[in-house]
Amino acid sequence: MREALDLAASQQETESVDPGTVIAPLPRISVQAFCETQAVADAVEASILDRRMARAHVKVHMGGAPAALAAYRSAPTPNLLMLESGSDAGQMLAHLDQLAELCDAATRVIVAGPINDVGFYRELTRRGVSDYLLTPIGPLDFIRTASALYTGEGVDVVGRTIAVIGTKGGVGASTIAHNLAWAISSAQKVNTVIVDLDLGFGTAALDFDQDPPQGVADAVFAPDRIDANLVDRLLAKCSDNLSLLAAPAMLDRVYDLQETAFDAVIDVLRTSTPCIVLDMPHLWTSWARRVAVSADEVIIVAEPDLASFRNVKNMFVALKQARPNDRPPKLIVNKVGMVKRPELPIGDFSKVLEIEPSATIPFDAALFGSALNNGRMIMEIQANGKVPEIFDQLATATLGRQPIVKNKSSILAPLFKKLRRA
Ligand SMILES: Nc1ncnc2c1ncn2[C@@H]1O[C@H](COP(=O)(O)OP(=O)(O)OP(=O)(O)O)[C@@H](O)[C@H]1O
Ligand SMILES: [Mg+2]
Repeated sequence: MREALDLAASQQETESVDPGTVIAPLPRISVQAFCETQAVADAVEASILDRRMARAHVKVHMGGAPAALAAYRSAPTPNLLMLESGSDAGQMLAHLDQLAELCDAATRVIVAGPINDVGFYRELTRRGVSDYLLTPIGPLDFIRTASALYTGEGVDVVGRTIAVIGTKGGVGASTIAHNLAWAISSAQKVNTVIVDLDLGFGTAALDFDQDPPQGVADAVFAPDRIDANLVDRLLAKCSDNLSLLAAPAMLDRVYDLQETAFDAVIDVLRTSTPCIVLDMPHLWTSWARRVAVSADEVIIVAEPDLASFRNVKNMFVALKQARPNDRPPKLIVNKVGMVKRPELPIGDFSKVLEIEPSATIPFDAALFGSALNNGRMIMEIQANGKVPEIFDQLATATLGRQPIVKNKSSILAPLFKKLRRA
């Protein structure tokens, strides 16, 4: 476990990109890099393992621009070409001029190198180079630059996907996913869609007191027809900023889904919705693993017991290995303090597993039960209090924002005011 975390930490040392930055996945393009130094080759090699590069076909060569010149005399250029430059600007520009004669018109070129000079950058732009990366670079620098070339308007408009998954059945993963989405869409005013991925038994529609005739299954079973219009028609509106792609929760068919079952619908949602909360069932199938691995943020919900403890460890290790350039998942320990239930101390998560829970949520049968029975969110039942505050904080942390400071007036406030005046 620690090895996996250390590996990620050392990879991020040279990185200038925050691991929490939302970067859109690259489309199915061919990418070739011609590197001069091992450090840059290592960064590009490491990027191949990244979830956002899963569709791209990447090859790394040594020898820099001269090797690229030799290669493309007899082979077509790829969609994206990355060239590492040495410290001689004139030589690099001369190589680029020669390459221009061999390069396909659609090929985009990124240059990386140690030359920190505006004049050089201007000359690169004049020659049609799409971007320049100042070395040293980390894998995320390369991925973000490559992604920005193919996703157009920049990283900020891309939808952030948040996968919420439980360590056991019934730990409260869906409840937390729905309340988090509510907090993001109401307090933070970010347009949000919840996707209920539990096709057979999902409760999102019940929890929001909705009964939509269509939902996520209509998209999953018609992958060829999926586009923004279709997905728009399948959404059920829960509030101004919150919509739902509900699960059918019908057992008239079976749901043996393929690994890529949710790819198309999530891709379409990402182009139009800033925040997509994925309410996942407690499963580890090929599609569930794929959805969790490719999410921008993963939230693991556990209870303070031995089975959760073991599963948290396994899930953290599996996800960290598959997502080497990402922040580790967030851990939420739910249903803490259930009367008469023996519990493992929360401190064990941090002490033994070295994972600090992002939040602990008390067991409160009355509050959660009445929310459930009335098809309401916790914040609708109880505007202020410990639990709504936890969801508020989780929403800000998930979006990478600063918490909203609420003016809490203390009963001693008038006294303090008088004393200050005096
Ligand atoms: N902190 C809490 N206190 C009391 N009850 C809770 C709490 N959190 C969730 N619950 C209740 O636990 C039950 C299960 O919650 P939920 O359906 O969200 O779990 P899940 O992990 O999504 O389950 P599944 O494995 O079926 O997907 C619900 O009745 C919910 O109201
Ligand atoms: Mg659930």
